Amino acid sequence: MFDREAHEKRTCWYRQARFGMFIHWGLYAIPARGEWVRSDEKMPEEEYLPFFGEFDPVNFDARRWARAARKAGMKYMVFTAKHHDGFCLFDSALTDFKSTNTPCGRDIVREVLDAFRAEGLRVGLYYSLLDWHYPDYPHYGDRYHPLRDDSRERDIPRDFDRYLDYMHGQVRELCTNYGKLDILWFDFSYKGDGQDMTGETWRAAELVHMVRSLQPEVILDNRLEVSGEGFGSLATAVPSDYCGDFVSPEQIIPPQGLRDEEGRELLWEACVTMNDHWGYCSSDKNYKSAATLIRRLVECVSKNGNLLLNVGPDARGNIPAEAMDILSQIGSWMGANGESIWGCGGSGLPKPENGRITRRGDVLYYHILEDALGCIPLYGIPKDKVKSVRLLADGSERKLQADWITGNYPDMAFVKISAAAGLPDETDTVLKICLES
Ligand code: GLC
Repeated sequence: MFDREAHEKRTCWYRQARFGMFIHWGLYAIPARGEWVRSDEKMPEEEYLPFFGEFDPVNFDARRWARAARKAGMKYMVFTAKHHDGFCLFDSALTDFKSTNTPCGRDIVREVLDAFRAEGLRVGLYYSLLDWHYPDYPHYGDRYHPLRDDSRERDIPRDFDRYLDYMHGQVRELCTNYGKLDILWFDFSYKGDGQDMTGETWRAAELVHMVRSLQPEVILDNRLEVSGEGFGSLATAVPSDYCGDFVSPEQIIPPQGLRDEEGRELLWEACVTMNDHWGYCSSDKNYKSAATLIRRLVECVSKNGNLLLNVGPDARGNIPAEAMDILSQIGSWMGANGESIWGCGGSGLPKPENGRITRRGDVLYYHILEDALGCIPLYGIPKDKVKSVRLLADGSERKLQADWITGNYPDMAFVKISAAAGLPDETDTVLKICLES
């Protein structure tokens, strides 16, 4: 049975955190065409295994990643312990296909968890339900397996239950050997063409029961039921035992935020890439600007959601320079304006036409995204309840304007911010507005 009270309690920190780092890393950083490379190219494993013998990320230093995340204002992290290719970045006793057996020789998951905890971030692990390495995972006729069309695979007997024992066993290892995990991010369920790889196919109730017995406070995503497509039973009146704690929209921000069938706010986390790939892709330079990402983070918070922003380190263990640069620009803005993100949520007010509003209790954060001619109208702000208005970045007072120019609009609050030079912060100028309680 889904225990709503326990769910509310364990997700408390997560609603405050708002901004996290997703990290996709594995052997696929070497071919550098994204983490789906084997499936996309229907690549047989013989062509992929050389990368296993070669994996030696000489620059890998989890502390550098963790520092970059903290400085960007991120409060948590989710790291790929195993992706669909089946390669494990932790020292699993249940497989040889793991980082400790490559030239790298290190338990990467442990180093990453330690480093991010040391920077004060909450830590999570991504674990793929799909596994293109394990012999008992469906091959021929599966929707995504690299050998799905290879008729030589058709008559090879495969014992899916043996795979499930393995998968459950690895999740047990992760929940037992790596200290407290704040998030477990399972990925993903699918169906079609006579296949149903969702929910109980994974023995999901049993799995979640085990996870919760080992990690009572861990937060789970919803992908034991769905993928980025669909919300799962968390959004319904009768959530299942394994519905998870949040919905995981991928590469999109829900236009109106999300509510469940009974009208309650539904917890969600938009996971998005900085360029167009999760795993490292050397030719993909299509990075979103820091300004875009800052504004989208504000959008998430104003709709009561979180943003999980991805980086894909390269084969030498470096987060690409472009991504590091974006993180540091986001960090400068967060350094001055993070107060309008952490611990904040939607305001309950309509979206103003020149920006967005986030809120913590009686404090409104008015994000001005568009300049005005002269005074700036603060749409929807209850004028007679305003105690003070400050420019968040420097704490300076902004008086509400009351003169013959604004006088024709008695219900609207106005402030004066800038002269001809434009807004003090072209990305997002934040006003902190304290209301009388
Ligand atoms: C996906 C993909 C993937 C990525 C992810 C992130 O559905 O399969 O490669 O890890 O979800 O949300």
